[in-house]
Amino acid sequence: MTNRTLAIIKPDAVKKNVIGEIVSQITQAGFKVLGLRLMKISKEQAGAFYEVHKERPFYAELVDYMSSGAICPIALEKENAVEDFRKLIGSTDPLQADEGTVRKLYGTSKAINAIHGSDSDENAAIEIGFYFSASEIVATK
Ligand code: CMP
Repeated sequence: MTNRTLAIIKPDAVKKNVIGEIVSQITQAGFKVLGLRLMKISKEQAGAFYEVHKERPFYAELVDYMSSGAICPIALEKENAVEDFRKLIGSTDPLQADEGTVRKLYGTSKAINAIHGSDSDENAAIEIGFYFSASEIVATK
């Protein structure tokens, strides 16, 4: 699947009350929303989601942060979704991100960076499956 990606609006952006602005920016860039939730995850769930980063020094901080408040996972569809979405959100570090990107507009630091985007087609499929069952994804055909 090369046309889907998973976004997560992170606790900082949910707290700033900018879900609407961010979803609008995403849809204006040509992405279709296939699924959207507002939820809170446990430390265990956050740890499982970010398991690939388990050995990184920032893992504990990342897990604590992602389970600290509400998040908004969004399953998205667009041609070349993974790459185009990463361009739309900008660099991991909001201070390095290009003007107009979601992280530049709403992020604070590498850890508190407003939004997540899948980094590969393979991970997009896994990550969408983490937050959505097949029946929750809108049929697009
Ligand atoms: P995300 O796209 O959710 O994927 C992994 C996350 O780890 C990343 O966004 C950042 O929020 C976080 N991260 C990456 N590097 C660092 C770092 N050096 N310090 C703190 N957090 C980081």
